[in-house]
Amino acid sequence: MKKLLTFVFMMTSIGGYAQKYSVQDIDRLVSEMTLQEKIAIVMGKERHLVSPPDAAPGMIKRPAPDYSNLSALYTGMHKDDDKVVAAFTEGRVKGAAGENGGVKRLNIPLFVYADGPAGLRIDITRPDDDREYYCTAFPVGVSLSSTWDVSLVERVCQAMGNEVKEYGVDVLLAPGMNIMRNPLCGRNFEYFSEDPFLTGKIASAYVRGIQSQGVGVSVKHFAVNNQETFRNGIDVHVTERAMREIYLKAFEMVVKEAKPWTIMSSYNKINGVLASENRWLLTDLLRKEWGFDGFVMTDWWAEEDGARQIAAGNDLLMPGTQRQVDDITAAVNCGRLDESFIDDCVKRILYVMQKSPSCQQYEYSNQPDLNAHAHIVRQASSEGMVLLKNNGALPFKGKSVTLVGVDAYDALVGGSGSGNVNRRYKISLDQGFANTGIKLEKALSTRYLEYIKQEKSRTQENFWTVPIIEEIPISREEAEQAARKTDIAILVIGRMAGEGSDRQLVKGDYYLSDVEQQNLQTLCQAFHEKKKKVVVVMNMGSTMHMADWHHLPDAILMAWMGGQETGNSMADVLTGKVCPSGKLPMTIAQSYKDYPSADNFPFSRGTESEVCYDEDIFVGYRHFDTHEVKPLYPFGFGLSYTNFEYSNMQVAVEGDLIKVSVTVKNTGGTKGKEIVQLYVGQPDGIYPKAVKELKSFAKTSLLKPGASETLNMTIKKENLGSWNSREGKWVIEKGTYRILCGASVEDIREKAEIRL
Ligand code: BGC
Repeated sequence: MKKLLTFVFMMTSIGGYAQKYSVQDIDRLVSEMTLQEKIAIVMGKERHLVSPPDAAPGMIKRPAPDYSNLSALYTGMHKDDDKVVAAFTEGRVKGAAGENGGVKRLNIPLFVYADGPAGLRIDITRPDDDREYYCTAFPVGVSLSSTWDVSLVERVCQAMGNEVKEYGVDVLLAPGMNIMRNPLCGRNFEYFSEDPFLTGKIASAYVRGIQSQGVGVSVKHFAVNNQETFRNGIDVHVTERAMREIYLKAFEMVVKEAKPWTIMSSYNKINGVLASENRWLLTDLLRKEWGFDGFVMTDWWAEEDGARQIAAGNDLLMPGTQRQVDDITAAVNCGRLDESFIDDCVKRILYVMQKSPSCQQYEYSNQPDLNAHAHIVRQASSEGMVLLKNNGALPFKGKSVTLVGVDAYDALVGGSGSGNVNRRYKISLDQGFANTGIKLEKALSTRYLEYIKQEKSRTQENFWTVPIIEEIPISREEAEQAARKTDIAILVIGRMAGEGSDRQLVKGDYYLSDVEQQNLQTLCQAFHEKKKKVVVVMNMGSTMHMADWHHLPDAILMAWMGGQETGNSMADVLTGKVCPSGKLPMTIAQSYKDYPSADNFPFSRGTESEVCYDEDIFVGYRHFDTHEVKPLYPFGFGLSYTNFEYSNMQVAVEGDLIKVSVTVKNTGGTKGKEIVQLYVGQPDGIYPKAVKELKSFAKTSLLKPGASETLNMTIKKENLGSWNSREGKWVIEKGTYRILCGASVEDIREKAEIRL
């Protein structure tokens, strides 16, 4: 009994992060708890999430939460300790998304959970405290995955995890790892890819990096949350095969490879059942089949039926409302919910959270090394940039630039909503160039800077929206003057996106606005007349329609949203300090209607309550490749300032593994890195198959001209299976498998066949 009542202090006497309590210890601890105390563990307390001022499309506008009764519960627990109550009500880490725990009688501390995928999201200021709590804005998810570099992602996330720990947070609500089913999904910037294998590998590296710091993650949003419109109730109709092979596969990989502390269930319904109330998903599949041993939390305000959520295997209800407390208490009291379900949730939470810094009484510094982390941001962001086109314009070796586009002077460094980070600064491309000594055309840059300043003074950012500053038209005279005075024109096109709404299929969003189109044409005419080049830099978290303008500029760089150092990283790539090596984690189609989900996004059949994933497994390149629809830029595509030759592919089957090696030689004149992709074409079975699927990838080190490197890649045979829904199992077809080594899904350089 003595031991059970000193949960924290036992931990600290041991020191380090090794788990101390066994399952039996935790069982005994839980058997000593009252229902109220258990509810304090399975129920969070909202910390700092605000409702949208005007409900965004698809968002339910919620009244401010009423905690009067809930805080009575906590106050009751802490009545003899004013400090704890104050800390709880003020929030130990202001701006963190939520907390749970805080059971004083048992010395269970408060656990703190904070967003989000591109860095820690906490408030900058605190009452009665004049210092500022900035965090590093890291590159967004799609930028990280475009590096195809698992060790780099792991290093980025070690730095991010260090900030989580040093600011006193226990669990980072990240990574977001839903599949990019459609380019308009508002949260694609947070996600990794249209492909489950790339997503699973990058997400696993992310989780390993964060958790290496002794803090946890909550991988999200489990599952099939591939749109924001009506995310709270949309019913996703999807076959089990498409779920297993596409939408759940990356989660399965991350659970098995990286052991995340927690998983966040999503808001949507899956085939009629809410994900957070879905026992098949959260218990049968996740725990029993995949062996997940962490705990599951709901997404924020997914407060449908607390008792049903608990019964499904949702251990922690976030952020916790009085209604849920009442539901659960009533359900236990009337016998609708067996208290043992709550016990299981509490046990799972405590078993994981005993490793947490709060439980270990870690003395966090509130002073992570933000300068060191900024260096990692700059490197990672430039490595994620994808060079889509280059007719001799880049690398730019001149001295002066005409810089056009609002976002050139006011970079988009991350998306809005919970994925936003309160950073200390951001570098836009104008500063990035200034830092390299390159001069900007004065008249236009002055015009932009004054215009942006004026627009910003009239609007304000909030959690849900970053106001969009309309582009300004460039006159023919301005362009001609600039073309006379400077060596090159660079036009930045930006697109903001964020949680709570999807992007729109309109001019100014998926399409260029009239002004953007006109500016591009005007610049191209003026600069091309002078035999000077024009470059477009795309500053966004997903893609857009490019087919009707991509022929105009001489080069196009997809820079994504690279975090607070975005402008420096862009300048590094544009000037050749860094040779671009990123490759596309999604397909860029010729036309929106070419995307297989185009007719079923965000709704199907004219209803606003359901979406049918009729394309089944043919998501992204699986569709373009198999159905021979020519994309504008294929999955896996990206140019370099140098060239690579592939040779000598070797394939060996050893037990359960297929081992492939290939030699890559830098045949160009610049140092560079190459990403090699390994696709497998499976023999036909009872279901239609994609022509080929990504099964492994590797990246070379920085190769000097003439240098070679042999890359080794391994495929587990079990990863070649297709889900047979009739028999409810993975099936590996007998026959000939094509092993294809490529620079993109379309550019296969080496081939072999094996029989299994
Ligand atoms: C988002 C989550 C986020 C949570 C807490 C929700 O609205 O969907 O991704 O972690 O809020 O901020």
